[in-house]
Amino acid sequence: MILVTGGAGFIGANFVLDWLAQSQEPVLNLDKLTYAGNLENLAALANDPRHVFVQGDIGDAELVAGLLAQYQPRAVLNFAAESHVDRSIQGPEDFIQTNVVGTMRLLQAVRHYWQSLAQEPQAAFRFLHVSTDEVYGSLSKTDPAFVETNKLEPNSPYSASKAASDHLVRAWHHTYGLPVLTTNCSNNYGPFHFPEKLIPLMIVNALAGKPLPVYGDGLQVRDWLYVKDHCSAIRRVLEAGRVGEIYNVGGWNEKPNIEIVHTVCALLDELRPKPDGSSYQTQISYVQDRPGHDRRYAIDASKIERELGWKPSETFDTGIRKTVQWYLAHPDWVAHVQSGAYREWVQKNYQL
Ligand code: NAD
Ligand code: DAU
Repeated sequence: MILVTGGAGFIGANFVLDWLAQSQEPVLNLDKLTYAGNLENLAALANDPRHVFVQGDIGDAELVAGLLAQYQPRAVLNFAAESHVDRSIQGPEDFIQTNVVGTMRLLQAVRHYWQSLAQEPQAAFRFLHVSTDEVYGSLSKTDPAFVETNKLEPNSPYSASKAASDHLVRAWHHTYGLPVLTTNCSNNYGPFHFPEKLIPLMIVNALAGKPLPVYGDGLQVRDWLYVKDHCSAIRRVLEAGRVGEIYNVGGWNEKPNIEIVHTVCALLDELRPKPDGSSYQTQISYVQDRPGHDRRYAIDASKIERELGWKPSETFDTGIRKTVQWYLAHPDWVAHVQSGAYREWVQKNYQL
C-alpha cells in the first residue's frame, strides 16, 4: 500500500479518490483533520476497505513509526501542510510546526523504517514531497518562468515554511540516501477546494450575494492547474521520477486574478443567472492588498513533460467550467464547510 499524509484536504482527497479509481492498491491516509481536513471529501470511500483512515499528526513520531511498521507502505506521499498564505501572515506558528517540524519528524520516522527494509523493498521505496511554486519567490512581468534550478526565495511565512521542508527533504536524500522526489506545483483549483482560497471563495460569495474581495489592483498573476492534472503528475513522478530530482508542475496558464474573478462571474451569469438580471461582477470589491503579496508566479513545466511525458489534460476553460458546475451541484458540501457541520459528519461516519 501507499501512505498518504493530508489525504482529507483539497489536493490529498482528490489524489486518494483518483488513486483508488485507477488502482486496487490500498491507501493509508494519515490526516490531523485541522479546519482544512474534511472526511466528507472522501464520503465515496466510507465503506471501501482499500481506504484506511487514521486521524493523527505527521509530527507524532511514535504514531508514524507504528503505522509504518504495521502497514509496510512501499511509498509515502506527503501532502500534509498548513496551506493558506493569509493564515500564515496572521499566525505563522502552526506553519512552522507542521510544515517544518512535522516534515522533519516524518522524514526521521520514514528513514528509520526505510533503513529497516530488506534490499528489494528498500530499493523500490519512495518518499514523495508535495511542494509549491511559491518557494521560488516572485517574478516580474518579463522574468522567465520558474525552473527547478531557480534559487528558493520565499516571501511569506507559508512559502518560507514550505521552502524549509523542501530543503529538509533534499538533505535527507543527500545525507542519509533516502529515495526522495519533490514536486513544486502552481495554484490548483477544482472540487473540494476550501472556500478560503480565491476561486472557491469567489464562487460561494457570489452565490451568497456577498462582496467578491479582490486584493490590491487584482493584477497579480498566478499559474492555474486543474487539481486532477496535479494528481496525475504526482502519480507519474512516483512511478517514473528520478530519485533526488525536483519536478515543476504547472498548467501553462498564467492569468491575473481579476481575469479569474471575471471568468467565474461570467460562468455563474450563464449557469445560475441572478433573478434581477444583473451580473455577479457587480459584487466585485477591491480591498486592501495582502502584505508582501507576490506579484507573479509562472511555472516552466518542460522537465516533467520531457522526462516523464506528463501534460495537463484540462485547459483553463474546461477546468474552470467543471469547477463552477461542481460547486453548483454540491450545495450541501458548501453549507457544511461554511457552518462547520463537516466535523459532525466525521464523528457519525468514522467513529473517531
Ligand atoms: P489543504 O489545506 O486543503 O489540506 C491540508 C491537509 O493536511 C488537511 O487535510 C489537514 O487536515 C492536513 N494536515 C495539516 N496539518 C497536519 C499535520 N500536522 N498532520 C497531518 N495532517 C495535517 O491543502 P492543499 O491545498 O490540499 O495542499 C496540499 C499540499 O499541496 C500542501 O503541502 C501544499 O503546500 C501543496 N500545494 C498546494 C497547492 C494549492 O494550490 N492548493 C499548490 C501547490 C502545492
Ligand atoms: O502557488 C501555489 C499556492 O497557491 C499554494 O502553495 C498555496 O497552498 C495555495 O493557497 C495558493 O496560494 P495563493 O496565495 O496563490 O492562493 P490564494 O487562493 O490564497 O490567492 C490567489 C490569488 O488571489 C493571490 O494573488 C491572492 C488573491 N486573492 C485571494 C483571496 C483569498 C484575492 O485577491 N482575494 C481573496 O479573497
